[in-house]
Amino acid sequence: MPKLAIGNWKMNPDNLEGAIDLAKDEDVAGAIICPPFLYLEEISGILSKAKLGAQDVAPSSKRAQTGEISIEQLKDLQVGYVIVGHSERRALGETDEVINQKIQAVLEEGIVPILCVGEDLDTHERGDRAVIEFVSSQLNADLSGIDSDSELIVAYEPIWSISTSGSGLESTPDEANSTIESIKEVLSKMGFDEIKVLYGGSVDGDDAHQYLKEDNIDGVLVGGASLRPDEFKQIVAYANE
Ligand code: PGA
Repeated sequence: MPKLAIGNWKMNPDNLEGAIDLAKDEDVAGAIICPPFLYLEEISGILSKAKLGAQDVAPSSKRAQTGEISIEQLKDLQVGYVIVGHSERRALGETDEVINQKIQAVLEEGIVPILCVGEDLDTHERGDRAVIEFVSSQLNADLSGIDSDSELIVAYEPIWSISTSGSGLESTPDEANSTIESIKEVLSKMGFDEIKVLYGGSVDGDDAHQYLKEDNIDGVLVGGASLRPDEFKQIVAYANE
């Protein structure tokens, strides 16, 4: 069964021309591409095989929110997925309460949220139990009141594993697989049985297949390597296997 390969371009590239080139290069079946808001409209018109995602959304449709983008505006551009609660947004102060509101807003429009969870290095160093307690508390807060039949994706991204975290460390495929197995048990206890759980953190063309061949890992969320089209397409090909 094919797995998911999602590219999170973060705040890249610097100009529209670069974004158009990247989108054309990465327009392959099985890919989900999440460019910056600014390029969504143009890229929506380019993609014919890959699907389109956004990196964030406003927590509600209240119009007076300077600088925010609503779920209705994203839907109008054929966005099918929205990343919510990425650790880089949590680091800016985004709370579980706001993340929960964003998930509700996304689901109400029939769009699929990609909820990011994951622990910091201190928690990781305290061991498996501390990690699961941490992630479980995020999941309980972020999914509070959410219908367990909802279509949503969870991405387990240990913060210390993200390529730009500076730790130089990375969760091994085996370690990620076993944490995701525990995350699925937590989700199942919460009533969410059929949720796909992805791994994210320094996945690249060289090691993607090792993560993707693990039983519990349903796909990968890729940052840095999604800016390198040949590498990203290789990752998508592994996910499609
Ligand atoms: P990375 O980013 O692949 O560059 O580690 C992943 C992410 O932050 O989603």
